[in-house]
Amino acid sequence: MTLSRPPLLWVTGPLALAAVLLTASWLVAAPADLPEDVMMGKKVYEQHCQKCHGEGGWGDGPQAQWQYLPPVNFHAPSSRLKSDDELISVIEHGVIFSPMHSFRGTLNATEIQDVVAYIRLLSQRGR
Ligand code: HEC
Repeated sequence: MTLSRPPLLWVTGPLALAAVLLTASWLVAAPADLPEDVMMGKKVYEQHCQKCHGEGGWGDGPQAQWQYLPPVNFHAPSSRLKSDDELISVIEHGVIFSPMHSFRGTLNATEIQDVVAYIRLLSQRGR
């Protein structure tokens, strides 16, 4: 009786296929990998804040040029050094005599926390 060895391809073929599939699924999943609160914060930001603070948080949104007071650039050291509580307080109460009005009533506490998480992410990103 002769035992024929299985062709090498039987072993390496499925392994290679598995490796390709794993890599592909990782590549596809990577962009959606933001934590849930940051994803929610992104939605809030795009709806309420982006027009002034800009897509990347540089204070250059389409409405920024009409303001007598420029929207804060979240990349500025003065902004990055602020605590979460300080940012939350500005969002909740607004800044008096400025276009930055209060979002109390528009956003709930969770949405405000989520949008701060998103601002922190933006402030770490480059152009
Ligand atoms: C109408 C334009 C406008 C909109 C809309 C707006 N902002 Fe602002 N924001 C400003 C301006 C102007 C300032 C700067 C006020 C100042 O100089 O004290 C500011 C300041 C801030 C600050 C203080 C940052 C710091 O470092 O002092 C935070 C935080 C902030 N905005 C978050 C938000 C969030 C979150 C939203 C959306 C929910 C939002 N803003 C929507 C104009 C806007």
